[in-house]
Amino acid sequence: MTLTEDDARRRDETDPGHRALFHVPPGIAYFAGNSLGLQPKATVPEILADLGDWARLGVEGHLEGGRPWLPYHELLTEPAARLVGALPTETVVMNSLTVNLHLLMVSFYRPAGERNQILIEDTAFPSDSYAVRSQAAFHNLDPNKTVVRLAGGDDVRKYLAERGDHVALVLLGGVNYLTGELLDIPGITRAGHAAGAIVGWDLAHAAGNVPLRLHDWGVDFAAWCSYKYLNGGPGALAGAFVHERHLGDPSVPRFEGWWSTEPATRFEMAPVSRPPATVDAWQVSNPPIFAMGPVRTSLEIFDRIGMDSLRARSLRLTGYLRELLDEVTPGRPLAVVTPREPERHGSQLSVRIGDGGAGEVTRRLRHEHGVIADEREPDVVRFAPVPLYSTYHDCWRAARALAAVVKEV
Ligand SMILES: Cc1ncc(COP(=O)(O)O)c(C=O)c1O
Repeated sequence: MTLTEDDARRRDETDPGHRALFHVPPGIAYFAGNSLGLQPKATVPEILADLGDWARLGVEGHLEGGRPWLPYHELLTEPAARLVGALPTETVVMNSLTVNLHLLMVSFYRPAGERNQILIEDTAFPSDSYAVRSQAAFHNLDPNKTVVRLAGGDDVRKYLAERGDHVALVLLGGVNYLTGELLDIPGITRAGHAAGAIVGWDLAHAAGNVPLRLHDWGVDFAAWCSYKYLNGGPGALAGAFVHERHLGDPSVPRFEGWWSTEPATRFEMAPVSRPPATVDAWQVSNPPIFAMGPVRTSLEIFDRIGMDSLRARSLRLTGYLRELLDEVTPGRPLAVVTPREPERHGSQLSVRIGDGGAGEVTRRLRHEHGVIADEREPDVVRFAPVPLYSTYHDCWRAARALAAVVKEV
């Protein structure tokens, strides 16, 4: 490879990132932060502090202790809102991602006559496909006719321009899980609105990866998980966003529970809720406090360092890894398929491995070279250099390992 190991080490000296904040598996070059982020060192002490309140206070921890549980979720609201470019009233951390998508679609997928279609990508994450199909079925519609799968952002715009009056909802991934492509979220949102549709976003691969301005972009709703770039731990709590213009609108239906009502009314035990004019009205149950600590800890890191600074390092690292990968993947059948333009990708680079074999490549990277990437069968291996903790030397190791492995597979 033209770029040397010494060069990688020099880059790490001048652009070191924030690796010391994380537990990094020993000896491993970790590229799976787009699947499960690493554990911040601050996580365990914070969880222990919350557990300690339970031990000391029992039920009184709802109102007393270091972080009383009744308003606990509010501690996450402002940092989560800053992360996705939203107002605090538009942002809540709750449930998990697909659950949030369902709760939001109950409100915002409102098929009416001919306008009943849901647009998704052909490469939508399967959970989203199942979710939208089940939403269509819930409305007694045939998912095979109602759910329209399109190749990508340009096809979505074209469809909206030509058949937009049939579209009730556009639901797309901000960053595609397979290709790593960052879509034009504001542009597609505008195109959806021009066609009279609601536009929602699955930001699983975008939150904590690329800067977002959900409020200014006019996105109707969005949801994201916290276990990828947000380092909240396996199955971590998810986020949800509803644009201000929908808040407090009595014509928007919602599934509710006791956490949907104004906090001050929660213990009035009234038969009818009095929901606030905020996204908190979409909460249903009381939140799992010990699962909130890790997300809070992680959001504090993002708040401290700032998404713009992380994005800048992400582009430097990803640009460097692409240079290396371009050298070891000379084109079909082996090629980086993530778009090259900086505004069209986040931290993930996806390599297509020709005739399948992604699983074998990933296993060898792991077992023979200590490089953890991940595969999406049959033919994609994904590498995500994460600006918080990945190094240039990790990237150099990954490219060298991939060159060695693909020679043999
Ligand atoms: C893009 C995308 N959407 C949805 C999901 C499903 O998430 P959950 O199981 O947290 O609902 C994932 C999980 O990786 C994902 O990557």
